[in-house]
Amino acid sequence: MSRPPATSHDLTASKFCPPELDRERLPAHVAVIMDGNGRWAESRGLPRVMGHRAGVEALKATLRLCSDWGIGALTAYAFSTENWSRPGDEVNFLMTLFERVLQRELRTLEEEQVRIRFLGDLEALPLKLQELISDATDRTAGNGGIHFNVCTNYGGRRELVRAAQRLARQAANGDLAPEDIDENSLAAELFTAGEQDPDLLIRTSGEHRISNFLLWQLAYAEIHVTDVFWPDFNEKALKQALLDFQSRSRRFGGLDPLTP
Ligand code: FPP
Repeated sequence: MSRPPATSHDLTASKFCPPELDRERLPAHVAVIMDGNGRWAESRGLPRVMGHRAGVEALKATLRLCSDWGIGALTAYAFSTENWSRPGDEVNFLMTLFERVLQRELRTLEEEQVRIRFLGDLEALPLKLQELISDATDRTAGNGGIHFNVCTNYGGRRELVRAAQRLARQAANGDLAPEDIDENSLAAELFTAGEQDPDLLIRTSGEHRISNFLLWQLAYAEIHVTDVFWPDFNEKALKQALLDFQSRSRRFGGLDPLTP
């Protein structure tokens, strides 16, 4: 694979949490909708798929920064259940890109103690990709570093329907009383089972939409939208998102603790 076109990633990015950020109040889990790859490429007169290739570099840089700064989990929306409707060439490019990135980066992920998981209906993916995913998941399962979740063939509504079916099956088998179904038992049937809900959702390229992403899990997340196209998302943009997060008063439906 040839080198991606230049983005604004600084290879000397700081290894430690910047002093402007309050280290005690970082989100434990950041979710990202990596939007704007196509527009980034088109604005440079490049084919859209070059934007996805550059997007991988932005994702790698974001993962490393989150890990270095002490954020516990990063969940990225890589391919939605709706993305199959894109032109066949683009879908094929993305599937091959996922395979190549996994092959190329697995050793680094292992060295950096990243635990990678792929969330979504994985059976619909090409067989080779499924095998690479299974291998990467197994090989990093015991790692103690950042949790990196890649949502692939993921849809929030489909995830909720699947969870409902799984609970219904348990009830029909007599293993679960319907009145015992609560938020915890439903959350345990989601792809994200065991993961803390995201505190912060970042969406790039200026769209103010959730786009069927983590519909249950984002219930109380703070949302940061930036106009930056995903391939240009860099240390400065991440810092801005985190500063924005730290400026919010999170009330979870209650009152501000400073309210008299
Ligand atoms: C949205 O931009 C981006 C995607 C649909 C693909 C994102 C995938 C990656 C960055 C690759 C990740 C790879 C791995 C292995 C985790 P868009 O195409 O919708 O942009 P547009 O809105 O400008 O058209």
